[in-house]
Amino acid sequence: MDKLVIQGGVALRGEVEAGTAKNSVLPILAATLLTREPCRIRDAPALRDVATMLRILEALGVRCERHADGTIETRVEDEGSVEAPYELVKTMRASVCVLGPLLARRRRARVSFPGGCVFGPRPIDLHLKGLRALGVDLDIEAGYIVARAERLRGAEMYLGGSFGPTVTGTANVLMASVLAEGVTRIEMAACEPEVQDLANFLNAMGADVRGIGTPILEIHGVGELHGAEYRPVPDRIEVGTFLAAAAITGGGVKVTRCRPDHLGAVVERLTALGCRVESGDDWISCARRGRLEAGDITTLPYPGFPTDLQAQFMAVVSLADGVSVVTEKVYPERFMHVAELGRMRARIRKEHHMAIVLGTDYLSGAPVLASDLRASAALVLAGLVAEGETQVRRVYHIDRGYERIETKLQALGARIERVRDEDGL
Ligand code: EPZ
Repeated sequence: MDKLVIQGGVALRGEVEAGTAKNSVLPILAATLLTREPCRIRDAPALRDVATMLRILEALGVRCERHADGTIETRVEDEGSVEAPYELVKTMRASVCVLGPLLARRRRARVSFPGGCVFGPRPIDLHLKGLRALGVDLDIEAGYIVARAERLRGAEMYLGGSFGPTVTGTANVLMASVLAEGVTRIEMAACEPEVQDLANFLNAMGADVRGIGTPILEIHGVGELHGAEYRPVPDRIEVGTFLAAAAITGGGVKVTRCRPDHLGAVVERLTALGCRVESGDDWISCARRGRLEAGDITTLPYPGFPTDLQAQFMAVVSLADGVSVVTEKVYPERFMHVAELGRMRARIRKEHHMAIVLGTDYLSGAPVLASDLRASAALVLAGLVAEGETQVRRVYHIDRGYERIETKLQALGARIERVRDEDGL
């Protein structure tokens, strides 16, 4: 296993290119199950989660080829298999996204029930509710969702839960409904750019999805879909992480090949924390001089502040002048990073779904353990500015969602290296 070793104290400066959004690519790859024609997904990131999705597709009879330029070509060769096995699903919850397209095309699915994760329970009741509304018969057997549908019929449904809409739930129902008879109307659909991207890809395949980007999606079922070539959107969470790196180190970073229009809430917060943010059509930059100001962070579904940047921004405000309150309204238990940041001298108290962060003068480098993808990113950010050496262990978490993070940070001046972790942690 690898660890990242960081010598803190360098203000990051320079330009970095954003990668393609993992959370767009995963459901889009699942959507290629909806046609027997070839599909081409361009600029797919070389991430562990993407590799896992390709293995699941291969288990489902799809031939997948990955080219050196990042293009992934898929072609369904055998529609006989309908099972997404536990061994793969347990490593990546987004695997559940094959449920919708399998039902749409093959009328049957056996998908391992995804478990909880380190940041709390992650139910899929809303996915199942939406699919049932379309006429799917569902049961849980031996840890698997066993689903069957003689035919899928368009329906009206409300897909909001206690914590708002569901991203992959909307994706699943959307993919099940594109080939259903009649019209489906999803109220309280997730509006995330990655859901919009999936809907645009489906339309490129010949689907008729309307209301994209709004909480009400209307899907007019079509007879069949064809192959398509598509370039998914840039990764707004990766971009936000680099902007946070500029903010926390007091440097200046420009991220190119990105979509600043997906980052409204993030820009608003960076500005409130005392950073200067500028942007053009496809670039955005963040610079900070002087002390960071304290500011509250409240996560919300899009276009609110993303939960996937909560940990990184908690690291940033841990060095701000004053008290900041971080409120998690999407995943109330997503605070695994609090204790590890504490080992680096951050002063954070967790209270239910909130964390109260008392800004400190400096962080102190320490060995820390990455608990999940975004928590690891927060620890790397803290390490970049901490005094002395930080070792972030269990970096396989970070490899699920950030492509070559250390190479990109090195190009901005960071002293960060990936080394083998002899302790095997
Ligand atoms: C997606 O997860 C992302 N994953 C997550 O990214 C992200 O944190 C999350 O959306 C929120 O933005 C992918 O896109 C692959 P949800 P998802 O269903 O779809 C509750 C990352 O770091 N809920 O939108 O699983 C749920 O418990 C990751 O890249 C139900 O109650 O999240 C949560 O409180 C991790 N019932 C809220 O809704 C359901 O059936 C939002 O979850 C489904 C969800």
